[in-house]
Amino acid sequence: MPRFAPCDGWPGAVGRAEEGVPLSLQVLVISDNGLFADYLCELLTVAGHQATSVTDGRQSQQAIRLEKPDLLVVAVEQAKVAALAVEQRVHAPEGTRNIPVIVISECRRLEAELLHVFDFIPKPLDVKRLLDDVAAIAGRQAQAGRHLALSDRQYLVFSAYILSCTGLHFESRNRAALDRGLAKRMSALRIDSCTEYLAYLKRHGEDRHELQKLLQFLTVGETYFFRYPSHFDALKERLTARYAHSPEPIRIWSAGCSTGEEPYSIAISIMEALPDWQERDVKVIATDINNRSLKRAREGVYTPWSMRITGEHHQRRYFDQVGESFIIHDDVKRLVEFSHLNLSSPESAAVHPQLHGLDAIFCRNVLIYFSPEQAVSMVGSFAAALKPSGQLFLGHAETLLTRSPDLEIRRQDNSFYYVKSRLRTGASRAERSPAPPAARARTATTPPAQGTRPEPQPAPLPLPPWSPPVQAAGPAERLDAARRLYDAEEFDAAYELLETVTDCPEETGALILMGFILAGKGLFQEALDSCSRAIELNDLLPEAYFLRGVVLDANDRLAEAAQEYRKALLLDHDFIMPRYHMGRLHLRLGRVREAAREIRNSIRILARHDDNGTIPFSGGLTRAVCMVQLQNALAKVA
Ligand SMILES: C[S@@+](CC[C@H](N)C(=O)[O-])C[C@H]1O[C@@H](n2cnc3c(N)ncnc32)[C@H](O)[C@@H]1O
Repeated sequence: MPRFAPCDGWPGAVGRAEEGVPLSLQVLVISDNGLFADYLCELLTVAGHQATSVTDGRQSQQAIRLEKPDLLVVAVEQAKVAALAVEQRVHAPEGTRNIPVIVISECRRLEAELLHVFDFIPKPLDVKRLLDDVAAIAGRQAQAGRHLALSDRQYLVFSAYILSCTGLHFESRNRAALDRGLAKRMSALRIDSCTEYLAYLKRHGEDRHELQKLLQFLTVGETYFFRYPSHFDALKERLTARYAHSPEPIRIWSAGCSTGEEPYSIAISIMEALPDWQERDVKVIATDINNRSLKRAREGVYTPWSMRITGEHHQRRYFDQVGESFIIHDDVKRLVEFSHLNLSSPESAAVHPQLHGLDAIFCRNVLIYFSPEQAVSMVGSFAAALKPSGQLFLGHAETLLTRSPDLEIRRQDNSFYYVKSRLRTGASRAERSPAPPAARARTATTPPAQGTRPEPQPAPLPLPPWSPPVQAAGPAERLDAARRLYDAEEFDAAYELLETVTDCPEETGALILMGFILAGKGLFQEALDSCSRAIELNDLLPEAYFLRGVVLDANDRLAEAAQEYRKALLLDHDFIMPRYHMGRLHLRLGRVREAAREIRNSIRILARHDDNGTIPFSGGLTRAVCMVQLQNALAKVA
């Protein structure tokens, strides 16, 4: 029986609160467990809200229509409940999209799917989190579904933050996806300011998996069975040549597997190349960053769109067709192991000890998410994870941009792929890691294992000329972006971005800017340390001495500060900021004439520049504004 039992209600009227007073919410609790529903109602009532409950899920829509609640708290008891059922339970009636929903459940897998809910609270229930959530909803008046387009500056801040946390590289073509993802998550969370959402993301990126939830909107999983068929032909040829007479284990990695079409196509190729596959130790390791895609991959149910180039023979042999759906056979499924993995996470290899000594890696149409530097380094790691003569398959657009000394390019029909060179194996991780004994026995200098036929070795193609990465996220561009963030006073975002600029000529610039950020936060010793690291790398950097001067100046060590400003000016006579600071320092010491002289010199130098760019280390002042300030300063002392 449905229960619309009002709990001991708080007598205050539901509706808009007076200014400054938190809103009392009308909450509808939906739970199959009457006791738990009562408990939740009591909690909410004590917190000053009006709560009613319904314990028959089928009646929830009617209850929503009648009660018109401000908030739904849905407790999902059974592990078998599908996310879709929860969504339907709460979102089916007209107009309910705008009602915030909190889901409480022990069934954690639901969290990755319920991306439109305000919060998913795992059981055992964290009461404080529930009450904090309800209070936050009461305090927010955000309009769900409101369109939010990021300003250029916000875009820069978000993409820098996401880059620093995940390695995901955003170009302007991804901007719409970021816009959409933010609009969805902010709407679910009833947050209507990007700054507030960024703070929430930083606070709850890990503990509430907010980063993971946002990422679901930012990665696009377009894929289909047997995409680039010649790649699968090349794989089959190698498998037959190498393993027809050898029982060695076979390991293939589909990195960025999306909804599973690629790893299942690999599994089918193995089954076709090696008819005795059932007696073999075969595994396709399929990973992706997107949990929703992984869930669909494990389910293995596909639309005709995914099968658009799959021939009838394959359809009949490896799928059951039910209505419009194609369901992959269990024997194909058993060869594939799906798991979550962020390719840019440094732990990726540790999480997957199986990811070495591999026969083939498919990482197609994934590198587009990374900066050119990351893509190059990732290809290097792939090379290290392959067996000698193992194959690397990249997306068409990615192939010609990539080059690693361990890889030789091969052509197969109208496609390219790479083969790990047998000659340069010394430094690779595959060789350093303990490989299975059979694999270890075969090196470039030892003959192939008995029964293994020599593999076909098509002549290597000449490599395309190497062109340095020119896209937006090289170290120089990251440093530049960090400077702009610094000028925009987005110090944390700038700092995070700077931490990614290491081991390159830009490192000194990054260390100095980090020093300025640390000094701005009052972390003077850390700022000096950062400065010293920069000077160790290059002791002719005027900015480094200026930074030292600023820190010493702030600590009233004026004589030492003056010395550092002088060093900066010796190295760069036209450097405005140390000159201006020198003037201020003179003034603090009562040396008015010297102060006026430095300010006048600064004005003269500034007057020689006719562009109106920002003045380095001035906190984003343009030349014109800086000129006005200097003239004002001069007026006070002259
Ligand atoms: C366009 S799909 C490619 C699917 C398949 N490889 C193909 O070519 O048909 C790109 C996939 O890469 C995944 N991806 C993006 N960034 C990733 C990362 N950092 N780690 C793991 N997977 C990532 C996305 O979630 C998405 O499923």
